[in-house]
Amino acid sequence: MSARDAVLRVEHLEAGYGETTVLRDVTLEVPAQGVLAILGPNGAGKTTLLRAISGLLPARRGRVGLDGKDVSRRSASERVRRGLCHVPDPRGIFPSLTVRDNLVLQAPRGSVDGSIEKAVGMFPRLGERLDQLAGTLSGGEQQMLAVSRAYVQSPKVVLLDEVSMGLAPNIVDEIFAFLERLREEGVALVVVEQFVHRALAIADAVAVIGRGRVVAEGPAAGFTENAIFEAYAGVAPQEATA
Ligand SMILES: Nc1ncnc2c1ncn2[C@@H]1O[C@H](COP(=O)(O)OP(=O)(O)O)[C@@H](O)[C@H]1O
Ligand SMILES: [Mg+2]
Repeated sequence: MSARDAVLRVEHLEAGYGETTVLRDVTLEVPAQGVLAILGPNGAGKTTLLRAISGLLPARRGRVGLDGKDVSRRSASERVRRGLCHVPDPRGIFPSLTVRDNLVLQAPRGSVDGSIEKAVGMFPRLGERLDQLAGTLSGGEQQMLAVSRAYVQSPKVVLLDEVSMGLAPNIVDEIFAFLERLREEGVALVVVEQFVHRALAIADAVAVIGRGRVVAEGPAAGFTENAIFEAYAGVAPQEATA
């Protein structure tokens, strides 16, 4: 794939916390409208990678390219304006605000009503709970609210950090149906996922991260679940540093 086709390019990225370097020389690309699954054992650096891409964590070296433009020095909110949406882990919703106010905060200026309609159209259960405090929703409903961000912001690329974590299988089905819908609408996805089979089912390409580096990558069709776990085995989790 040529550089031109990539909606997101990460080149030689290095990032960490304090004196600790977590990501080292990470290079990845996500084609427009494609789905990249990022897999790897606990502590490998997947969350750190998404935070560095979205700008919540500064990159120490390397660059992040969005739609052909270097956004490495741009703020997280500027990256949002340019079409990058991050559904973080934890969920990044405001528990003490209502569902409606959470959606309003995510919506671009001038399109608040349309955004709420869009989210409710996808997840009718949110529509029944617009005036309820987000913190009082079930875990599944909170995750629906969290992923609605990816809808109301009309992004080009969405980073999803373990959105199925802790949810009942039928809710995970619903969330993945939503991800399929996003990709059909032409949105590129970066999916960090604990359920390898679910990730492989939706992904075009896979990158396995171990100890802050890309240790295996390629088309999803070339990976079996076993091959992924073998790659994990080669990169036992890092010592916890926090
Ligand atoms: N806020 C933080 N401060 C210091 N170290 C951290 C922080 N967050 C994560 N780490 C460390 O960075 C490494 C990667 O963590 P993380 O990106 O959360 O991995 P993953 O999402 O793959 O489980 C781990 O060793 C973890 O202990
Ligand atoms: Mg994580």
